[in-house]
Amino acid sequence: MRKKIVAGNWKMNKTPSEAVALAKMLVPLVNTDKVDVVFCVPAIDIIPVAEAIKGTKIALGAENMYFEESGAYTGEISPAMLTDAGVKYVILGHSERRQYFAETDETVNKKVKKALEHNLIPIMCCGETLEQREKGITIDFIRTQIKCGLNGISKDDITKVVVAYEPIWAIGTGKTATSAEAEEVCAAIRGVLGEMYDKETAEKIRIQYGGSVNGKNAAELFAMPDIDGGLVGGASLKEEFKDIVNY
Ligand code: PGA
Repeated sequence: MRKKIVAGNWKMNKTPSEAVALAKMLVPLVNTDKVDVVFCVPAIDIIPVAEAIKGTKIALGAENMYFEESGAYTGEISPAMLTDAGVKYVILGHSERRQYFAETDETVNKKVKKALEHNLIPIMCCGETLEQREKGITIDFIRTQIKCGLNGISKDDITKVVVAYEPIWAIGTGKTATSAEAEEVCAAIRGVLGEMYDKETAEKIRIQYGGSVNGKNAAELFAMPDIDGGLVGGASLKEEFKDIVNY
């Protein structure tokens, strides 16, 4: 049985003091071990939020990471910096990073490998544009993202990885994929993982849906057989996050 995982992606929101206030407001509402709960926060908020969630069941996540150990990479954050600060999860290859910061399947793959080396759990994102969906090439496109992004990951390591399916047209638009649409792609992702490894291994990997998940639609989405929780943007910044965690 795969344990559900609900991760908040705070994106570029909340100053350090605002982040602490949000974490403190949410902690009593979402401090459960029925599902894995993760706050993925901006880099500068990591240390204060780590302190604010200390002693709770909530895990800390980052929103990005560089694939080198250390050195002359101005502005970047290393995996060791994250683990030393208490980070357990890291979102990699979010569509906003691909779109605005030129991330490619190749850089995402390097990051996934490096994160695993440091015992960080990658939440690797994939998802199609509206144009790709309308052209009917969603599954082909996602197959490529999965195969390239997870290329060369061992069978042992792959079961630690979380995959987040986030159709770009559903992110921040209030337009959620229907549970059937989301399930179709999540099942296809599991199929690709089954081809890359084997069926038994693929059954162990958690696949989240992301894109306008809210307190009202979470239960239906998470009830689908191949959807193991959600990556939540907008609604993770509000009290409503509790309705998603406690779906
Ligand atoms: P959203 O964002 O929930 O605001 O649509 C999801 C995401 O981008 O991870």
